[in-house]
Amino acid sequence: MKRDDEAIAWLDGEIVPAREARIPILDHGFLFGDGVFEGIRVTSAGIFRLEDHMKRLETAGRAVGIEPIGGFAQVREVACETTRAWGPRAGYLRLIVTRGVGALGIDPATCPEPRVVCIAAGPAELSPDKEARGLDMITSSLRRPAGDVLDPRVKSLNYLNNVLAKREATHRGADDAVVLNSLGLIAEASATNLFVIQGNRLETPPVSDGALEGLTRRTVLEIGHDLGFEVAARSLGRFDLYAADAVFLTGTRAGLIPVGSLDGSLISQDARSRVREIQATFETRQLELSVPVH
Ligand SMILES: Cc1ncc(COP(=O)(O)O)c(C=O)c1O
Repeated sequence: MKRDDEAIAWLDGEIVPAREARIPILDHGFLFGDGVFEGIRVTSAGIFRLEDHMKRLETAGRAVGIEPIGGFAQVREVACETTRAWGPRAGYLRLIVTRGVGALGIDPATCPEPRVVCIAAGPAELSPDKEARGLDMITSSLRRPAGDVLDPRVKSLNYLNNVLAKREATHRGADDAVVLNSLGLIAEASATNLFVIQGNRLETPPVSDGALEGLTRRTVLEIGHDLGFEVAARSLGRFDLYAADAVFLTGTRAGLIPVGSLDGSLISQDARSRVREIQATFETRQLELSVPVH
């Protein structure tokens, strides 16, 4: 079975196979990337950090002026219903609120009814080889837009900056890209947050440098603190990755992924055992932080 073939979707109140779900082409989510979304981890115990995801979605909705009919409580219910249909097993939810159907022009005032869609699919799998060696990264030639251009904290349907960074990585024979902001500081990877371990310090760029406030990131910071690391959100440059004892990425679907190289130079794996310690704690913590829905 091809990946995502078993994906299901909640659309207009019904659960259908995702590949059969259709939305109208005049939806501004399709026409302009006008909408917001969440990627949410599903565990055997329920939905990981559900209230935090709902808060982030609601904040993004407020930032772009999208208020679903029935409010975000209704959207939360859609996530729960989709998870019940998916079953008590590991998975990934894509919860989307678009501006809805409107005129061909960009005016959002022509869209009276935001659309809610939720897709459930399996988790991403990293090959054992990649897990062992770590990802090969490049530094993207694209910069992350500043907060006064398109705030990277808004998880909007407009992901072209991220898509093009990933495309550039693939074209240059790498797995993913490190994306810098306009000051040359690291924001994050194409669609995951970035961490470095150096000595007893566990550090990640601050969201003000262009990172999404990832919920895996938040959990890893909490775990780091519990494991006795000195944790900090601190501005990082490319040199900090070469100086680190380990570098890894975090995201809902992928979890924690080690980085093996950047622009053809190796990244140290000296602190790999500490990354594994964080990974192992994350495995139990994700169950503790899941909201039961079944
Ligand atoms: C741009 C970007 N950065 C970071 C992340 C990681 O965030 P989270 O841990 O909440 O999935 C995501 C997740 O999709 C993302 O799209």
